This record gives sequence, C-alpha cells and structure tokens, in this order.
Amino acid sequence: MNLPRLRAEFPALVATGPEESIAYLDSACMSLVPRPVLAAMEEYYTRFPGCAGRSRHRFSTAAGERVEAARSAFGRWFGLGDAGPVVFLRNATEAINLVARGYPWRRGDRVLVSDQEHNSNLVVWQRLASERRLRLHSFALSDDGGFDLDRFAAEVDRHRPRLISLFHTSNLDGRSLPVRAIGEIAHDRGAETLFDGCQAAPHEAVDLKRIGADYYAVSAHKMLGPTGVGLLLSAPGALDRIAPLNLGGETVEWTTQERHQLRPPPYRFEAGLQNYAGIIGAHAGLRFLERAGLDRIRSHQAGLNAIATRALADDPRISILGPSAPQDRPSILGFTLDGVDPHDAAVFLDEGYRVLVRSGQHCVHSWYARRGLTGSVRASFYLYNTAAEVRRFVRGVRELLDRIPARAVPPPVRASGRRSGRSPGPGRRADPS
Ligand code: ALA
Repeated sequence: MNLPRLRAEFPALVATGPEESIAYLDSACMSLVPRPVLAAMEEYYTRFPGCAGRSRHRFSTAAGERVEAARSAFGRWFGLGDAGPVVFLRNATEAINLVARGYPWRRGDRVLVSDQEHNSNLVVWQRLASERRLRLHSFALSDDGGFDLDRFAAEVDRHRPRLISLFHTSNLDGRSLPVRAIGEIAHDRGAETLFDGCQAAPHEAVDLKRIGADYYAVSAHKMLGPTGVGLLLSAPGALDRIAPLNLGGETVEWTTQERHQLRPPPYRFEAGLQNYAGIIGAHAGLRFLERAGLDRIRSHQAGLNAIATRALADDPRISILGPSAPQDRPSILGFTLDGVDPHDAAVFLDEGYRVLVRSGQHCVHSWYARRGLTGSVRASFYLYNTAAEVRRFVRGVRELLDRIPARAVPPPVRASGRRSGRSPGPGRRADPS
C-alpha cells in the first residue's frame, strides 16, 4: 500500500479551507486516528452497544466477541498467539502501575531503571521505594545512543535487582535499547524484565517470545487507536504472580458475603465496565497498521527523519538529542535550539507554519533537571507525514533561528538548575507532563 495515499484516511489532516493542511509531527505523543477506527467505534455504539461478557442478549454477545477478537489479534501481533496473556487497561502507565503495585515484592527487593525513563516508569518506583517496599537504583545511559552491554551487566551484578524496568524506545530521543540482550542478561542473573513499549510497538514488529520480556506495556493511542486504551502483555504465567490493582465486577468467579474467588488472568485485572468502543477501535487501528506494513512505515519515517536531520544538524545553534544518525532514531528528532525556549518554538511553528511539534520535558523531567535544560523540541514522524511537510518544518525552524540574535555564550544556569534566558513567560504553566 502506498503510504501517502493512506493519508486521505485521516480526517484531522484534511485541509478544510484555503490554508495548508496541518503537518502533524507529534505522533510520539499520540498518533492520529484513521476513519476505520472511528467507524469501528461508531459501529459499537450504533449496532451493538452492550456490556461485553455480562448480559446474554445480542448486543452484549456481539460486543464480547469483538473484545475477545481484539485480545486475540493483539496476542498474535505481539507473538504470544491467539490466547496470549493480554490485559486491557487505560494506558501503558496503568500497565506499569499494575505490575509495580501487584508484584510479589519481598523485603529488600531492588528495581533497576535507566536515567532516561518516562515519569510513568519512574514515579511509581519512587513511591514504592519511599513506602519501603523496594529499593530503586538507576544507571546512566550514554548521550550518543550507544548501549554498552558489559557495563549494563556490571550494573545488574552490582545492584542485583529483582526487576529491571526500561523503555524499549525512548520518547525523548528515539533511541532503542537492545531489549533481547538485556532480557538475557537479566534472566541469567535471576531478574525479570518490564519494558515500556509505547514508542517501539507503533514502529516495529515486537515478538515478546523472541525478546523474552516478562512484562510489556503499550498504549493504543500511539498505534492509530483511540485514547484511553492500553495493554499489558506478558510471558506465559507471569501475570499469575501479579495481584490486581482494582477489584470488582468481572474480576471474580464467585463471591459470598465473606469471600471471593478471583478469575484467572487477564480477567481478574479488568474490573468494572471497560472501554469497549476503545478496545474495538484499537483493534481497527492494529488492522490499519497491518495493512500499511510496519517495515514500510519504519523506512518511510527514517527517510523523513533523514531529510530533517540533514537540513538541521550542521547548524551550530541546534543540538540533536541522542544518536546522530536518523536511522538509529527513525521516529523521533529531538533537539534544543540555542537561545530559544522550546515552547516558544512550538508556538512559532504552529502559528507560522501549521507544523505541530511537541515541546517541553516530554515527561522525562529528571533527565532535563540533571542537565539544567528547560526542555527540547521534538518532531516525531509517522506513516501519514510527507517530505513536503518535513521541508516546511525545516523552513520554520530556520526562520525562527534567523529571527534570534546570535549569542556568544549560553544563558547562565540558575540555582534552580534551569537555564534562564527566554523564560516560559508569565502565566505559562510549567510543563506538567
Ligand atoms: N509520552 C508521551 C510523549 O512523549 C506523552 O509525548
């Protein structure tokens, strides 16, 4: 299938007036939704709006069949087979929280994370550490995107974690970690692995058996699906060790006034009425991705990223984050602009060029705090983007830099660790994400 032709399937990209259509370069935050996903969700509400798995009437039965079909499809997609352990949740954050809160911790257990984790894979561990249920350790990633497996193995030997929890692909700079080798090192030393797959699963085939991941978290809203649906996938048997985060309807076989019997996974983790329309929509998004082909998407993105990188990398006022080669971070180009606040850059690109990028700290505040940076700009690419859009983005960045007077020295770092200079401006909120 021709990717640019698929673009017509995304209503948000259709220009409605005389102006150019939007260049949406923020798919790492959430991808756009194609018509078949909208149609699948509308079909649920118009043709079989029932409580899946509960009532015995046709609406409920049809909804239940669609939800289970979605579960099987995601199980196959992630190499776990039709009956693979797939839990539907609200998002990857909830999936990580479920493992963190439900894991059978023993006193003195340790968790190892990197120093570039999204808040969703940091804050919950900090909380558990402060509650003294475990000890949290981290190791430093190199700035250039390289990953030294021997050094990592030494960190694992030093900290002896029970669980190693890492991103698969970084939302900050787009690098991917060698998850299979990490899994082998972990398992050789008796540790389990949890990977945040949010930025990897939309762009590459992820076979969990091959990787050997024990737990893997993803969000449907980065895979052409709607917001509000995430998945926890696991190795066979791994979910049996996890206690549910929420209890209630659908999680139990039976109850008496005093006791209850939990259902087996995954159902014991899906308490209360679920986001059936969202799950069905997420399945439609998966089918769309299948049709487009992940290999084709990945090389398309790498090509777009190469155009942007070639055009911007040599400018001394631009610092690209992570690997220098775009093929090592195909979906993401993250950068700082000397003398320009990232939010100002994003507003300039939107208002002047109809180019939408993300700015700020990308939910990885800890990484920016250590460097005294207020944030960065991030352009992220997906199947619907075009070379013309990327060139428009480059023109916008260049014009922005041309308007900023050259400065001989970087702005001073304040005691708070943030650079002064162009402040976010009165009334602008601190980056909450
Ligand atoms: N994690 C999302 C992002 O990086 C919100 O934009």
